[in-house]
Amino acid sequence: MNHGLFIVIEGIDGTGKSTQASRLGEWFRAQGREVVVSREPTAGPWGKKVRESAASGRLSPEEELEYFLNDRRQHVEELIAPSLAAGKVVILDRYYFSTMAYQGARGFDPSEIRRQNEAFAPVPDRLLILDLDVDSALERIGARGDTANEFEKRENLVRCQEIFLSLRGEDFVRVIDSHGTLDEVAERIRQAVAV
Ligand code: TYD
Repeated sequence: MNHGLFIVIEGIDGTGKSTQASRLGEWFRAQGREVVVSREPTAGPWGKKVRESAASGRLSPEEELEYFLNDRRQHVEELIAPSLAAGKVVILDRYYFSTMAYQGARGFDPSEIRRQNEAFAPVPDRLLILDLDVDSALERIGARGDTANEFEKRENLVRCQEIFLSLRGEDFVRVIDSHGTLDEVAERIRQAVAV
């Protein structure tokens, strides 16, 4: 099969994932690769519902988990799998590791969440975990004029961060120090994807 390259960027809110995802996309495009940059939750119906809930008060843990899974099934079917099959570079800003972290922080077992997801969602070639201390992450959320929403409360982020970092050491995982300038972090990311 003509398989593309599948890269996922994860980390708690405020670590710079979306900026780095688009910069990495540009870098691959400059090398002549076809690139798809996408994110979860998506702009589809399930993704919209969870995003709304972040502002208005959260869904029940069960509903929330179900909505994220439905959103991801659709994303895999409609965008991720076909793009990889066409040999493209696919870069995601969040994927099922966020479900392990955030719904894990709400009491579900992260390994069980992983198992459920890997039943239908392809494992990436590289998982980049942007690592920033929680206080700096919260400062960045504040600096962009946002007030921390329900997902972004301090204790919650501390637990999410722990779950993300528990993936360290697996073959396809690289933890990226995300302190410093955007350029510095972008350079660390490029080194981590150069195989
Ligand atoms: P976020 O990336 O912040 O989207 P946006 O910038 O468009 O608001 O995602 C919204 C929140 O959703 C974020 O705090 C993490 C949470 N989330 C989960 O709880 N589980 C998941 O599976 C995913 C993908 C995200």
